[in-house]
Amino acid sequence: MVKVLFVCLGNICRSPMAEFIMKDIVRREGYSSRFFIASAGTSAEEEGNPVYPPARAELSKHGISCEGKRAEQYTAKDYALYDYILAMEDWHVRSILRVSGDPLRKVKRLLDYTEAPADIDDPWYTRDFARAYREIEKGCSAFLSYLKESGKIS
Ligand code: 4NP
Repeated sequence: MVKVLFVCLGNICRSPMAEFIMKDIVRREGYSSRFFIASAGTSAEEEGNPVYPPARAELSKHGISCEGKRAEQYTAKDYALYDYILAMEDWHVRSILRVSGDPLRKVKRLLDYTEAPADIDDPWYTRDFARAYREIEKGCSAFLSYLKESGKIS
C-alpha cells in the first residue's frame, strides 16, 4: 500500500484537487486498492470547511467529485502515517518541516516529479483554477510514473 498525503495551505483548493485527481488517475489505471490518498493544509484556518466552490467546479468539469471532503490540518502524526508527503509550494515544505521534520525524506513538491520542478501557484489568488488543474494533473501523472518506474507499484 502506497500512502500519499497532498499538502497546501488551506486544504480547500490545491491539495484536495490533487487528492481527487490522483484518486481518479489510479482508479482509471486499476491501482485503487494499492493506494491510500488524502490531503491536508499547513494552516488550521479552513479546518472543517468543504472544498472551495471554484476548485470543486473545476474537478466537476473533469467528471471528478470531491463530495464529503472537509479541510484538515497537517500534524506530526501524518508524518508517521504517510510514505509520500507532496506539497504544492516550497513554502509548504518549510511549514511541514517545522511541524514534523523530515528524517525519512518523505517530503517533496508535487512538481518535483516532473521535468519542470516548480511551485503550483495558488488559484485562490490567481483565480486560474484551470491552470492549477493542469499542473496538478501533470504532477500526479509524473508521480505515478515514478512509482511504476522505481518498482514501488507494479
Ligand atoms: P489552498 O488555497 O492552499 O490551495 O487551499 C488557499 C485557501 C485559503 C486561503 C489561501 C489559499 N486563505 O487565505 O484563506
